[in-house]
This record gives sequence, structure tokens and C-alpha cells, in this order.
Amino acid sequence: MSVNLKGRDLISIKELTPEEFFQFIETAVSLKTGLNMGQRPDILKNRTLAEIFQKPSLRTRVSFESSMTHLGGHGIYLGPDDIKLGQRETTEDIAKVLSGMADVIMARVFENKTVRDLAEYASIPVINGLCDYEHPTQALGDFLTIYEKYRRFDGLKICYIGDGNNVCNSTIFSSALMGTHITAVTAPGFEPTEEVISSAKAIAERYNTGSIIEVTNSIEEGIKDSDIVYTDVWASMGQEAQADEKKKTFMPYQVTLDVFNKAKPTAIFMHCLPAHYGEECTHEVAHCPRSVIFDQAANRMHSIKSILALVTP
Ligand code: CP
Ligand code: NVA
Repeated sequence: MSVNLKGRDLISIKELTPEEFFQFIETAVSLKTGLNMGQRPDILKNRTLAEIFQKPSLRTRVSFESSMTHLGGHGIYLGPDDIKLGQRETTEDIAKVLSGMADVIMARVFENKTVRDLAEYASIPVINGLCDYEHPTQALGDFLTIYEKYRRFDGLKICYIGDGNNVCNSTIFSSALMGTHITAVTAPGFEPTEEVISSAKAIAERYNTGSIIEVTNSIEEGIKDSDIVYTDVWASMGQEAQADEKKKTFMPYQVTLDVFNKAKPTAIFMHCLPAHYGEECTHEVAHCPRSVIFDQAANRMHSIKSILALVTP
């Protein structure tokens, strides 16, 4: 039975049910299959997406814009210097103005509160295109990639190695919803917060998914028996000033081919990209035969298309 997601915001993976999460995946599979057969259904004909970007982007921007083109609609890029969110105008006023002109908003922002405020004041759906706390559209593309490789989620084990922030958090919440086990391996002091871990455990318990969620500072401990090894940059966008310091702290957590080989022999390597080779991972591991980083990148578009198709009124 499908769930009606029209008009819904997508701010956090935490706010989805397992059925809703899987509906995004199933719809992405179906739209991807259709596109491969040459189908571009114009289900968002005459619809406009407003894209607010406080930070740079390759995958997210092109995925949202290509998706709108494929579905017969249009995307308008609003970069940092275009609207100066919070400086030239308040978040509340921007949300209310866009609600009178566009059909759906995506926002890549620094603070979670900004995207939450947009959702609160907008009368049209708001999609979180990354903030400090989560990257939900990334997680949906990643789980589409995992589904294509394994045809299931339950019982698989993800080992996330890196900073315990946005991408890590969305991967943890998705795992909790889908019954996937996950161990976050971070440098000491960079673990996902207690709030994230307790919320994820509560999700796993509420839906009885069987997901086991763990945190450690030991790669050896975390990577054992993993089906998926996932990493992300050490210094996220906006943390450039801390890059040198984080590099020193995280160097023991670099994913090399030797590290990857400690996971299951069938394991896949994932990275949300952009990658900083020689830091969180080597070029060799990211381009090895079991790396799926470019499937992941392509699946950003298919999953974002699914989100737009399902939530846009
Ligand atoms: N993974 C991701 O969000 O890429 P961009 O920053 O290029 O959008
Ligand atoms: N953690 C990274 C993810 C980039 C897609 C960042 O926030 O920059």
C-alpha cells in the first residue's frame, strides 16, 4: 500500500516511517527503469522548484535541476549572493514569498534551524539539501545504491568511518529505519551526538527493525564483517578553518585499500563525494572494482526525482 506524501517536507530521515522511506526507494527504482527505457513522464509540468544554496554543490544542484527537466518542470538556482538568506531578508519572508511563486523548495544551508524555519513558514514542501545535522537526500540515494547491490537492507552492516556529522547522522537514521546494522567509527571527540544515537535506537525499537547501532574509535572493531564501508570528508563545507587540525586528528582513520580489505571480501566502498584523496581515503580505494561511488552519484538524481515526484503538489 502506498503512502500519500504530497505536500510533505523532507527535513530529516528521522521523521519518516520505514514505509515512507521505502516508497522513495521504490519510486526511484521505477523512475530510473523508466528513464533507461527513454521515459521522461512530465508529471511536474509547469511546476517550479526554488533552489536555495548557501554552500557550493555539484551533485545536489545538478540532480535537482535535471530531475525537474526530466519531469517537465523547471528549477531556479538561488545562490548565496542572489538572496543572501538571513542578511538581505529574513528566512520567514523568503519562505512566504517563495510560497506565492514556486511549488517546492530545496535548501542547502549551514544550520538545521534555517531549513526548519523555511519549512515552518513555507506553505509548499521544503526539502533539506544538506545542513549541519543531516543530508537526507544523500541517504536516500545511498540506500538506493545499497538496494541495487544487495536487494535488501536488513541484516547488512555499514561501517561509517569519519566525522560524526550530517552524512553520518542521515546514514544512521536510515539504517535504523531499514534494519541495517551500523557502526560509526570516528576520531575521539567527533562521535555522533548522544541525541542522534538515542533517536536512532528509538526508531529501531519503535519499528522493531532489528538495526544495531554502535559507535567506536577503533577501525578494527568497526570494520569487521562489514558489507559497506562508507566515508566522507573530514572538514565539511564551512569548516575550512579547521581543516589542518582535523587532518592531523583523523589521519589514523584514512580508508586505504588495506583498511577496506578488513571488511567482508564482498564489501562495497561508498563515499558521498566530493572526495579529498590522500585524506579520508585514497584514490586507489575510491576507484577500485568494489567502489560504487559513481553509482551513488548517479543515484542522487534518481532518488531526488522520486522525492520531487512524490512531495510536489
Ligand atoms: N554529495 C553531495 O551532496 O555533493 P554536492 O555537495 O556536490 O552536492
Ligand atoms: N559532510 C560534507 C558532506 C558533503 C556532501 C559536508 O557537509 O561538506
